[in-house]
Amino acid sequence: MTRIGYLIGSFAEDSLNRQLAEVLVGEAPERAETSEIDLRPLPLYDRHLDEDFPAEMTAFKEQVAAVDGLLLVSPEHNKGVPAPVKNAIDILTRPPKQGVLSGVPMGIAGASKSRFGTLSSQTQLRGMLPQLGVPLMGTPQMTVQVTDETFAEGAAGAEQLRRRAGHYMEALTAWIEQHAARG
Ligand SMILES: Cc1cc2nc3c(=O)[nH]c(=O)nc-3n(C[C@H](O)[C@H](O)[C@H](O)COP(=O)(O)O)c2cc1C
Repeated sequence: MTRIGYLIGSFAEDSLNRQLAEVLVGEAPERAETSEIDLRPLPLYDRHLDEDFPAEMTAFKEQVAAVDGLLLVSPEHNKGVPAPVKNAIDILTRPPKQGVLSGVPMGIAGASKSRFGTLSSQTQLRGMLPQLGVPLMGTPQMTVQVTDETFAEGAAGAEQLRRRAGHYMEALTAWIEQHAARG
C-alpha cells in the first residue's frame, strides 16, 4: 500500500478545498491508502520554539514522517500561499537538522472561484518546495475553478472533475511509488 497523507489549507467548515480533497481521495487508486493530516491544531511557529518544540508540532511531524508522500489541497490567499500552509511548511523544516520534509514526494492541488483556480499560490509552492528537497510532481496540474456544477452530484462539471481527479491521483500515487523505490 502507498500511504498518502493529505493536508487541507483551509480551516473553513464549508471549504471548497476540503470538498476538492474529498473528491481526490475518493478517486485514489486501490493501492493508495489516504489519511488526513490535520493542520488545524498547529500553533503559529516561532523560532524560539525550537528549544522546546510544542507537542502538536511534534505530533504533526511524526504523522508526516509516517506516510510515503503528501497531497496538499489549498486555497490561495491574496495571490499567495495561505498562512496555515506556510506555517505547516515552516514547522516541517524545524528545528534545524530535524526537518522531515526533504525527500517526501508531494502533489499540490487547489480550488477557487477564480478563473485561475489557485495558480498563483501553486506557482509560489513550485518555487519553494523543490528548494526544500521536496520531489514535487510537475504534471498533471490540479487548478480547479469552482462553478455551481463542480461539486453538484450528477452535474456534468462534477463528473468531469471526478475523471480528472482519478487521473491526477493515479499519477500522484505512481510519483510517490517511484520516489519511495529510490529511497
Ligand atoms: C484573505 C483572503 C484572500 C483571498 N485571496 C484570493 C486570491 O488571491 N485568489 C483567489 O482565487 N481567491 C482568493 N480568496 C478567495 C478564496 O479562494 C475563497 O474564499 C475560496 O472559497 C477559498 O477556498 P476554501 O473555501 O477552501 O477556503 C481569498 C480569500 C480570503 C479570505
